Amino acid sequence: MKDLAFSVLRTLADGRFHSGEAMAQQLGCSRTLVWQAVHHLENEFGLTVFSVRGQGYRLPAPFALLDVTSVRAGLDERAANVFTLALADEIDSSNTQLTTRAAQGAPHGLVLAAERQTAGRGRLGRRWQMRLGAGLTFSLLWRFDRGLSGLAGLSLVVGIAIVRALREFGVPVALKWPNDVLLDGRKLAGILIELSGDALGPAAVVIGIGLNVASPGEVDQPVANLADAGCKVGRNALLAALLNQLAEVLAQFDRDGFAAFRDEWHQLAAFIGQPVRLSFSHGEPADGVAVGVDDSGALLVDGTAGRRVFHVGEVSLRAAP
Ligand code: BTN
Repeated sequence: MKDLAFSVLRTLADGRFHSGEAMAQQLGCSRTLVWQAVHHLENEFGLTVFSVRGQGYRLPAPFALLDVTSVRAGLDERAANVFTLALADEIDSSNTQLTTRAAQGAPHGLVLAAERQTAGRGRLGRRWQMRLGAGLTFSLLWRFDRGLSGLAGLSLVVGIAIVRALREFGVPVALKWPNDVLLDGRKLAGILIELSGDALGPAAVVIGIGLNVASPGEVDQPVANLADAGCKVGRNALLAALLNQLAEVLAQFDRDGFAAFRDEWHQLAAFIGQPVRLSFSHGEPADGVAVGVDDSGALLVDGTAGRRVFHVGEVSLRAAP
């Protein structure tokens, strides 16, 4: 049913009325199936579909689906040369899919964007949920030669790329160590980086990004979205802008490492100079003042017992209570 539901959505995407009969004819199925697909859009995908006797079905507004041609139109030369775009209507998780494809030899620069994830994953074993059309969810595969040990600051650098892209659209975002993107203190985007490879040899890195474009529906924590901040950029243009920035920062990170980004990260970071609390999956939280990051991207926190260094991993940070 999901495939038919996406076909119906593509027809309804213009925001006009389409009769059940016309869609059935166009899609080569019965009117009952079209009706069931409309219910799928409502009940499974959380969309509103107006149904008017004698006129058919219509969405409240036009719906811009992800589209390879539109994304490519927004790519600069560097990004167009490095990225290969793939789109999926519905998958479990773009990170999971790309990790599997990486192991099967998928090429450097493969980008997989999904309209809908049924098992989207966040950091620290959390879920990442998003209403259809309300966000961007994509992953990209980057193959590094610097070995896993040289990749510690990568998630901070990806955050910088997101901030640079969003600031092009006038959105005043900030970064929270290690890799949340905040708008007005609430989370706008998250990054999930998964690595495989050798400590010293080539590494395959899957970089997954989830970004709220409109209200994401019911989620576990209060979050921000671009629409509420008055930013009306379309998802295709936004994906292109993100990929342009990612192509640039990933190439520079590959060459120069995190140290080249450290000053910029400090300028973009929230909580620097402020009291914070670090929580771990096991053990007591640690309190102190966040003073910045070192050349590997580790967080430096001054507490009563002196300066401590926290590496990206099973740690989450928030303002001290
Ligand atoms: C976090 O903040 O916890 C990270 C969220 C990362 C979500 C993205 S959505 C695209 C990619 N696929 C996933 O399953 N997760 C990442």
